[in-house]
Amino acid sequence: MHEPQIIQQEPEKAYLVAVTVRGSRPLLSMQDSLSELQLLAKTAGISVVGQATQVVQNIDPATFVGSGKLEEIQQQLIELSAQSVIFDDELTPRHQREIEKRLGENIKVLDRTTLILDIFAQHAQTREGSLQVELAQYEYRLPRLTRQWTHLSRQTGGSGSKAGVGLRGPGETQLEVDKREIGRRISKLKSDLDGVRQHRSRHRQQRSRSGVPVVALVGYTNAGKSTLLNAITGADVYVADQLFATLDPTTRRVELPSGRNVVFTDTVGFIQKLPTTLIASFRATLEEVTEADLLLHVVDTSHPNVLQHIEAVEDTLAEIDVPMIPRILVWNKSDRLKNVEIPALETQEGYFAQVRVSAQTKQGLDELLQTVERALNIALKHATLLLPYDRGDILSLLFAQSAIKSQEHTPEGVKVVVQLPPDLYERLKIYQVKTK
Ligand code: GTP
Repeated sequence: MHEPQIIQQEPEKAYLVAVTVRGSRPLLSMQDSLSELQLLAKTAGISVVGQATQVVQNIDPATFVGSGKLEEIQQQLIELSAQSVIFDDELTPRHQREIEKRLGENIKVLDRTTLILDIFAQHAQTREGSLQVELAQYEYRLPRLTRQWTHLSRQTGGSGSKAGVGLRGPGETQLEVDKREIGRRISKLKSDLDGVRQHRSRHRQQRSRSGVPVVALVGYTNAGKSTLLNAITGADVYVADQLFATLDPTTRRVELPSGRNVVFTDTVGFIQKLPTTLIASFRATLEEVTEADLLLHVVDTSHPNVLQHIEAVEDTLAEIDVPMIPRILVWNKSDRLKNVEIPALETQEGYFAQVRVSAQTKQGLDELLQTVERALNIALKHATLLLPYDRGDILSLLFAQSAIKSQEHTPEGVKVVVQLPPDLYERLKIYQVKTK
């Protein structure tokens, strides 16, 4: 029998737990990472009532933190009447099960990934966004499926609840039924996503054939990408002082000072410890980034961890195999730091230029657009070329002067996918083939 649904008046109370392995060198200190987790919890509508940290020699294979520490945490949870505990790292299925067992039925055990996925689910606007999040949630939950998995059923679309429906076969436990149902749901989501993606990829191809350059905004969550896009384009993109407010790519056409048209696109923000599985789920959305002609890396200059944020974004870009796209570093929110120098970057390698702006006061935007224009003039261009076998000289030239992304030997010649400087692009136009 189903329990009647209780509508919670008060925000859920959660207790946070962070662990550092002695000798490890995480990007953010344990405390800074916990502060970020607290913001994530707040964004998810959860109230944080306490926290615990532990430095360990090794992660406990069963209970993640030491078992004595877990008992202390359990005591705290009771004293603070917390309903859930959130770990600042991804828990393995085994950790999840063991901790749930030790803390008892009334405590929800969550981790950073579940929290991020939950926020993504609340913020997804488009069909593709919702499908992607739902798929990521199911894939994450499947190996961790225990009595508690239904806590995700408040996700958008309410599809979490559907997964529990299903006729039980002979000898099957409810858990097995749920697993089977989720497996089915995952296949359905994948095929729905394929359809939506084909549609969007056709759009992108049309855009790339039209020759309008694409400028993609990337950055740490809450850096101000949407505000910047609004300021540049006069668009009305949702801006909020919370993490991951924008999940779906938003694309706007902009006229540069010279009158040339470009397309600006804003997409999901990055965060440290973004799990690889999650990055994989958003790969399609992130194609907007990989296929851009120019990247604006937007940073919150006023954030004390700005340099770590820059590093986290660069690490994520490397993980999604972003090719050699020219980048501009945009020091946003500079209105908050009057007369303060931009923090020195140890290496500015890979950046075409740095510009200081405030998306809020619109200061520096003209300079930013001029810099975008200059960068695009020297930007590399994508092309797929079919080179006859007797033009080995061109292939050598490409190796020397361009970024070859792939090459394939076909009966007609060598098919090369490259990014070319504009002059080489013009010279080799005759070898260009249309991609499907
Ligand atoms: P995600 O959706 O999490 O990726 O965030 P985002 O990078 O799109 O950030 P968003 O534009 O939503 O801005 C986050 C917060 O920063 C909002 O409260 C903005 O009002 C604020 N903000 C953005 N730009 C500036 C700025 O130049 N100065 C100041 N003071 N605040 C800013």
